[in-house]
Amino acid sequence: MWRNTRSGWGVISILFHWLSALTIIGLFILGWWMTGLGYYDPWYNQAPWIHRSIGILLVLATFARLAWRFVQPTPAGEGSRFERTAAHLGHIALYAILLLVLTSGYLISTANGRGISVFGWFDVPAVLHDLPNQASIAGDVHWYSALALMVLAGGHALAALLHHFKHRHTTIRRMVNPRYSQQNNH
Ligand code: HEM
Ligand code: HEM
Repeated sequence: MWRNTRSGWGVISILFHWLSALTIIGLFILGWWMTGLGYYDPWYNQAPWIHRSIGILLVLATFARLAWRFVQPTPAGEGSRFERTAAHLGHIALYAILLLVLTSGYLISTANGRGISVFGWFDVPAVLHDLPNQASIAGDVHWYSALALMVLAGGHALAALLHHFKHRHTTIRRMVNPRYSQQNNH
């Protein structure tokens, strides 16, 4: 139930997937909105603080997710050989671009040497700071990689829907229902 098997995803991987997807889309919308706020807007400081805090929690969740993924089996791919290879490369790209978005966000926030306060609960120190043009270069990387992540995730969602409605595969069902992981327990 909790763990993955070759036939389905367990509860832990399912929760990681959907909570991360919701958080990532939420951070994109929040990031877009907050960068358009005027200086006198009451959200001018508050919104980026929330964005950074949720972002750091997502960094921690992503480390935990990747660690869990590497010690677990993953369900066998469905579809043709081409589709399986494309899905595999697509998933690697999603993780890689996600890490780029997270790293660049961290580098914008710590460019001036100050750490990040996560909802006031704990602080994350600035490790790399005062590099030439750090905030603006990291800012550009952050925006374009976040955009690329949205486009790729959109293609990923369309591919998943194609599996579901056209080929009638269990691809989406097994990313929603952990029971598929129990079909042949091994
Ligand atoms: C998947 C996770 C994330 C997504 C999708 C995301 C998305 C965005 C977007 C769309 C913007 C607006 C960019 C612009 O208009 O130039 C933004 C700005 C920003 N993000 Fe993120 N972000 C994420 C994670 C993070 C993290 C982890 C941090 C830091 C710990 C962070 C810090 C910032 C900062 C400081 C800005 C303001 C940049 C500026 O004022 O130019 N973000 N983010
Ligand atoms: C920001 C949004 C999303 C991101 C970043 C994302 C990312 C990922 C990643 C990295 C994987 C591979 C998991 C692994 O092998 O460890 C995955 C699997 C999956 N995703 Fe998403 N996803 C997102 C949204 C969605 C949406 C909206 C859907 C459904 C319409 C979806 C359906 C699936 C399915 C069905 C799988 C399992 C594929 C399989 O069993 O081989 N994802 N996702």
